[in-house]
Amino acid sequence: GDVAVLVPAAGAGVRLGPGGPKALRLLGGEPLLVHVVRRIAAAPSVHTVVVAAPAAEVDAVRQLLTPVAPVLVVAGGAERQASVANALAAVPSGPDIVLVHDAARALTPPALVEAVAAAVRAGHDAVIPVLPVSDTIKRVDAAGVVLATVDRSALRAVQTPQGFRREVLAAAHAAAGDPLTDDAGLVEQQGVPVFCVPGSEYALKVTRPFDLTLAEHLLAAGH
Ligand code: CTP
Ligand code: MG
Repeated sequence: GDVAVLVPAAGAGVRLGPGGPKALRLLGGEPLLVHVVRRIAAAPSVHTVVVAAPAAEVDAVRQLLTPVAPVLVVAGGAERQASVANALAAVPSGPDIVLVHDAARALTPPALVEAVAAAVRAGHDAVIPVLPVSDTIKRVDAAGVVLATVDRSALRAVQTPQGFRREVLAAAHAAAGDPLTDDAGLVEQQGVPVFCVPGSEYALKVTRPFDLTLAEHLLAAGH
């Protein structure tokens, strides 16, 4: 494999509600992080997996993942961007392609990991999986009054894994300013074109309790 996958997993999971760090919350009796690492490790291109865990849970996460797949575990930071930077710093020499994948997207199919990696290998410096937006989208003001209906045909909802030529991601993080919620945003700020590939409904991010319920049903259905 020529791919390192960074897994930011250090978030608190505030929107999911009480119950500890989100990556360690259970889905079908196993932590979200176990599901996601198992799927990443099943992708043939993957050489190295680096998990950014909550600082207080680094040892526990290492033990949790030892039976699942060979992984490196580092402490995450206060923002997602810092967690990714910490994981990136731990990647050994070798992999030329780096993917960043949210632990919260626990049911992401290995085929999506392969598709993103393949697009980077084919020559794109930065690759993101996207889905069309299916709801009508409106711009509103602070009082809740509609200002405009947005043309959704040009809009995409962005997922992970996001893939990068290693030097491109490293340069973008080195130059990063205010924290962003995705890595492609940092690369965009460097003027690097970002290429879209089709995402997957199964790569949904577990953010709110509804998402966890949906993920439970998808898992039970065999995904
Ligand atoms: N993440 C991280 N370090 C942080 C914040 C987030 O590694 N300081 C990770 C999360 O663990 C998650 C991914 O980034 O896998 C996407 O973030 P999000 O869905 O926002 O998760 P949380 O920050 O945990 O959730 P919330 O914002 O509701 O607290
Ligand atoms: Mg968050």
